[in-house]
Amino acid sequence: MMQRRWNRRRTLALVATNAAALIFCLALLAGPGLGQLGYGQSFAGRWAATGQPLHNGELHKSILDLTQNGSEIKGKLVALGYGVDVEGKASGNHFELYAWEHKKPIIVGDLVNGELHYMQWGGAFVAHPATAADEFPKLPYLEPPALHKVPYNGLAKTPPMGWNSWNLFAEKIDDKTVRTMADAMVSSGMRDAGYVYVNIDDTWEGVRDAQGNLQSNSKFPDMKALADYVHSKGLKIGIYSSPGPRTCGEYPATYGHEEQDAKTFAAWGFDYLKFDWCSAGNIYKDDKLRPVYQKMGDALQATGRPIVYSLCEYGLGDVQKWGAQVGANLWRTTGDIADNWESMIANIEKQVPTAPYAGPGHWNDPDMLEIGNGHMTADEYRTHMSLWALTAAPLLAGNDVRTMTDTTRSILLNKEVIAIDQDPLGKQASPVKSGDFEIWAKPLADGGVAVGVVNMGPNAGQAKVKAGDLKLNGAVKKVRDLWAHKDVTFTGGVYEATVPSHGVLLLRVSTK
Ligand code: GAL
Repeated sequence: MMQRRWNRRRTLALVATNAAALIFCLALLAGPGLGQLGYGQSFAGRWAATGQPLHNGELHKSILDLTQNGSEIKGKLVALGYGVDVEGKASGNHFELYAWEHKKPIIVGDLVNGELHYMQWGGAFVAHPATAADEFPKLPYLEPPALHKVPYNGLAKTPPMGWNSWNLFAEKIDDKTVRTMADAMVSSGMRDAGYVYVNIDDTWEGVRDAQGNLQSNSKFPDMKALADYVHSKGLKIGIYSSPGPRTCGEYPATYGHEEQDAKTFAAWGFDYLKFDWCSAGNIYKDDKLRPVYQKMGDALQATGRPIVYSLCEYGLGDVQKWGAQVGANLWRTTGDIADNWESMIANIEKQVPTAPYAGPGHWNDPDMLEIGNGHMTADEYRTHMSLWALTAAPLLAGNDVRTMTDTTRSILLNKEVIAIDQDPLGKQASPVKSGDFEIWAKPLADGGVAVGVVNMGPNAGQAKVKAGDLKLNGAVKKVRDLWAHKDVTFTGGVYEATVPSHGVLLLRVSTK
């Protein structure tokens, strides 16, 4: 009843504003026939959606605020955990909305009897016209602190290495999976190769107790016991939250609880925090990123526990220019990686302007590794690993280490490539383009250079590395092909090799 009243009010408003709405009214009067003119019913308005329950028993909530002009729809999707501009198309009663830079729509659905029925990220949602009761509770605006420099915590002298649950498991992560993954980090040799952080990403959160302490949900019955277990394996453990009131997965987050949560994480025994902007973007403009992140930087240091501080803000706000000032050891320079060539390359290319800002203790992060997740070729994964190493990126595996194939193992555990990433000089390579090839050169602490030649083209091609281009401070003494695991030689100051499409030649050139 209320629904119908709302529809009529909205219809009247639209009639007054544009001709498209007139067609819409005629369509309604004439029934389905005219609706197929292409405009269908209107998608304009504020729609309140609920989705599946979260793992802490709460319900997902979001509001889609849309305007429609003919078949074009525009607006904003605000959920507990994030807010994003959306735009897309309606065709009859069907609609699709895009957000961020996604090539695929994030929302696909239909207008059915005055409700939006749609799929978003694999979940089913039903949205009805929003009423006052659907609006999110207004939280008090907390003014971020004045800027100051948070001292360096002495950690991450080389890019952090480990494993993170998000890329493969997303919300399907739990205590048992983390424990078995920790076991596999040891038995596979990952730990001994340097991958020491086992990081739990989003969806571990429960609700706050009466004292405001954040608890874990039923997937993680005892965080302290889990941290103790991971530590007993000679590994370190990481956790995830947001400076906003909710994480990107909608779970309760740290807004207004910085010191309390930092103390909780330290008491549980965590060694690493990924702090993801998410719903902070519904409260603060980008010019507040720095002071907001500084608040948690201070809170972590006040715990007295060494905790690697990882910012996740998708490259917003020129983070590379101030990340180290808020006490961060790494910061995301890009949106989320996906397990495909285009996404991986797009992320690494966004790293390019950040190169001068990487160095011991503070790193640019083009997101976690997808190696072994199954949607790139072995050549593409070798390129992925090489590019992350050349750009001194954090190496956080995102695959199932318990079941990895020999090929995945040979890529993640290539110690000569890991050594390039972990080189103590901490320089981030930048590319020079040459036809289908990109040449990335990274100066190393021993005076040598790592050089990667990536074949971006669709066909195999001949890569050429000229010693004269490498800005070496002496004659070439030794050249090692880090994927072939063999020494090679320059002839007349040049080394040539055939590189498959999307493959890489990675050399370590030494003057000693
Ligand atoms: C995204 C973040 C991902 C993952 C996810 C969890 O914002 O970039 O890496 O953490 O949130 O909800």
